[in-house]
Amino acid sequence: MDYKIRTRIARILIDDKVPVDTEVVILGMVRTARTGKNVAFVEINDGSCMGNIQAVFVEPQRHPILEKILTGASVRVKGRLIASQGKGQKYEIAGEAIDLIGEADPTFPLQKKRHSYEFLREIAHLRARTNTFGAVTRIRSKLAFCVHRYFQERGFYCVHTPIISASDCEGAGDLFRVSTLDFENIPVKEGKIDWDADFFGSEAYLTVSGQLEAELLAVALGDVYNFSPTFRAENSNTARHASEFWMIEPEMAWAELDDNMDLAEDFLKNLFTFALEECPDEMNFFGKWIDKEARQTLEGVCEADFERLPYTEAVKILESAGEKFEFEVRWGADLQSEHERYLTEKVFKKPVIVFDYPEEIKPFYMRVNDDGKTVRAMDVLVPRVGEIIGGSQREERHDVLVERMKQKGMKDLDGMQWYLDIRKYGTVPHSGFGLGFERAIMYITGMANIRDVASFPRVPRWAKF
Ligand code: 4AD
Ligand code: MG
Repeated sequence: MDYKIRTRIARILIDDKVPVDTEVVILGMVRTARTGKNVAFVEINDGSCMGNIQAVFVEPQRHPILEKILTGASVRVKGRLIASQGKGQKYEIAGEAIDLIGEADPTFPLQKKRHSYEFLREIAHLRARTNTFGAVTRIRSKLAFCVHRYFQERGFYCVHTPIISASDCEGAGDLFRVSTLDFENIPVKEGKIDWDADFFGSEAYLTVSGQLEAELLAVALGDVYNFSPTFRAENSNTARHASEFWMIEPEMAWAELDDNMDLAEDFLKNLFTFALEECPDEMNFFGKWIDKEARQTLEGVCEADFERLPYTEAVKILESAGEKFEFEVRWGADLQSEHERYLTEKVFKKPVIVFDYPEEIKPFYMRVNDDGKTVRAMDVLVPRVGEIIGGSQREERHDVLVERMKQKGMKDLDGMQWYLDIRKYGTVPHSGFGLGFERAIMYITGMANIRDVASFPRVPRWAKF
């Protein structure tokens, strides 16, 4: 059979490029099939867009194969495009021929009704065939395109930093080890594991962030961005944490914290505008079924200036909020997600950039302020999702950085010589941040759980598919 001759449903329903009366061939999967005495209806989706197209067969007895066509089957339909008789879609197909390509077993679990997200996670191998997960998967692809377009148009070079790394960028110790040692027979030298005998001749991990390597490339190329998977072995079972997630990490030479905030705000607005303007099919669906306010929220955010709030001010606001928080608010303690959400949802009702955090709660690479107590950190907080971006101006002063690394108890400074070197040979003020791609998708779509914006999420005790 020749599968090259086909019309994608998006070409008919979205692009509106196919005139009525055209002969079309549709290749897709059956969402529903109903055969009556005089007429049969087969609703097909081919994944190219949200919408299904309905093929109508008069005199169904002429197509005995219809009996075997159940929800979930794959078919090839030939017919003529006509203006739809019924409500809903603009077009339908006056069916002439139908071939059953792949039969669906009657146990096919996605029947036409609403399934719970929990159930759908168990069948992630099939869930992209539902409206919701089809829409999430398509908008994720479109947003990835927008990310590249945004940076490429502004002179940023896309870099690919390593996935396997020997350093712990965030210093939080949430690392997945990469090793080929035989667990049953671990080599020992002087009473300790002999990492020299391991694959890389040293300990190695899956990266938690491409930042450190992106810094090296930014000082060489100017502006760069990294868009790749990162891994965290945090054992936190929340709706916003995944063990594997994608991060977009721009890094700019010749940039201070203000420039970093400007970029973060402009980039997010660009991404949101893109979703509103260039993904109407998906956004209409999310607005109808997932979050009625999704569109309004995004429009509001694109018009508002993000609030820029020093950490110290944030603490004052929270302390005098008269709110009963589960976690204590205290200068020096990290903001918990309840605090972040209070600031952005209740106080400012728009995105908030909190900056100048206490030195003690932030990683070694952030530039120390003149007060010696705070660092040039910034977190972008948005309603509902909380922290969506984390970033900073980097410490470019060699001596200050060495001092801070020692203070933080980093033992192997020799192993970090490459990172220190760029401060020794023509140091450059530079800044960057990381946007969690899944969190951005959650915010845009209104999806409430990170497990539902990645096709095959990885979370503690779950690496299936
Ligand atoms: O704040 P984080 O840890 O910052 C960094 O990793 C920096 N090195 C980035 C940089 O400056 N280049 O992570 C950045 C963002 C967070 O704001 C959040 O959106 C997301 O990554 N993120 C997670 N997303 C999903 N699951 C997790 N476990 C995440 N941890 C962080
Ligand atoms: Mg962070």
